[in-house]
Amino acid sequence: MKRIVVLTSGGDSPGMNAALRAVAKLGAAQGLQVFGSLEGYDGLIDGQFRELTKVLSDGTLTVDIEVDAAGGQGGTLIGSARSARFREVEGRAKSASELRKLGADGLIVIGGNGSLTGAHAFATESGIKVMGIPGSIDNDIGCTATSLGVDTALNTIVEACDRISDTARAHRRAFVVEVMGRDCGYLAMASAVAMAADAVLIRESGKTEDQLIDDIRQVINTGFARGKRRILIIKAEGVTVPCTRLVRMTEERMKVELPTLEIRATVLGHVVRGGNPSYADRAVAGRLGFGALNSLLEGASDEMVGWMPPVPGGIATADSSVMRFPLTRVLDETRALIDGSSPVTKRRVALMTTASGVLSL
Ligand code: F6P
Repeated sequence: MKRIVVLTSGGDSPGMNAALRAVAKLGAAQGLQVFGSLEGYDGLIDGQFRELTKVLSDGTLTVDIEVDAAGGQGGTLIGSARSARFREVEGRAKSASELRKLGADGLIVIGGNGSLTGAHAFATESGIKVMGIPGSIDNDIGCTATSLGVDTALNTIVEACDRISDTARAHRRAFVVEVMGRDCGYLAMASAVAMAADAVLIRESGKTEDQLIDDIRQVINTGFARGKRRILIIKAEGVTVPCTRLVRMTEERMKVELPTLEIRATVLGHVVRGGNPSYADRAVAGRLGFGALNSLLEGASDEMVGWMPPVPGGIATADSSVMRFPLTRVLDETRALIDGSSPVTKRRVALMTTASGVLSL
């Protein structure tokens, strides 16, 4: 193996650049030229590559200076996309021929569920070696305890909620704060615990709009009765009732018991996805990058490296916190995480149900 390609795909996440830097540095150290595919899978299809390593005059390799600097930044230096063309077999066949033209026989895909689904199809059809690295702030990928960006996103949410709590306490108000997480309420659950929020609203609990409004009403009533000045309710994006509607309906329902009640809604949205990666995301990115590259060099393919996997049965790597899992298993576990049948999701929801009585104190 002399050349490999790495790409970032789907929603960007803090730590993607750190992983690119790690792969480029480790590749250079092993005499491998590393190229980035521009705009995710679209760059593979169109043969749009950018070298992430640099050949020095003595023939040795080093990391590209911009890639080195980007390691501590959010977003992704080589762009990301959700490629519709790569979902088609023709797009994947064109990608394989572009990779062969470049002389690359290995591919590292950094991304979430959709990106890893594409990686699995490509590995089986093309015969090119493919390794995945989990990258998504949502923490909805199987066979890994975390994915790139989760820790940074949680830090951003906590900081934003601290600010919201300041103004909430000043005015004795309730706030409903929505955080990202389309299919998975992990960010909402984890940040609610960290913020000692009064309630958390997640899709996984399967509550109706009416039940959600009742939950909000109850924590507002008991919270203010206990003398609280801030009521904080964290809502996951996956709960489809908009924040503003929840606020309006709750105020309406409580207008007799609390006529002066003021609830505000804040949607954090993409603020949660940006920002420089935290220490934890940089460290995990470096170690998963190391694991993915070494696995390719050892001949592994159609697999993902996971961080401290919450499931047994992975293949050990040189790093005791990093294990390899077949992509088929990763995709099965991901499906179960999202549809609620995974023991991990069941445990999370049960924990939140137990915690809800404590959080609202
Ligand atoms: O990356 C995952 C995610 O942040 C989800 O939580 C969210 O629903 C989605 O991406 C938003 O995607 P877009 O940036 O395309 O609006």
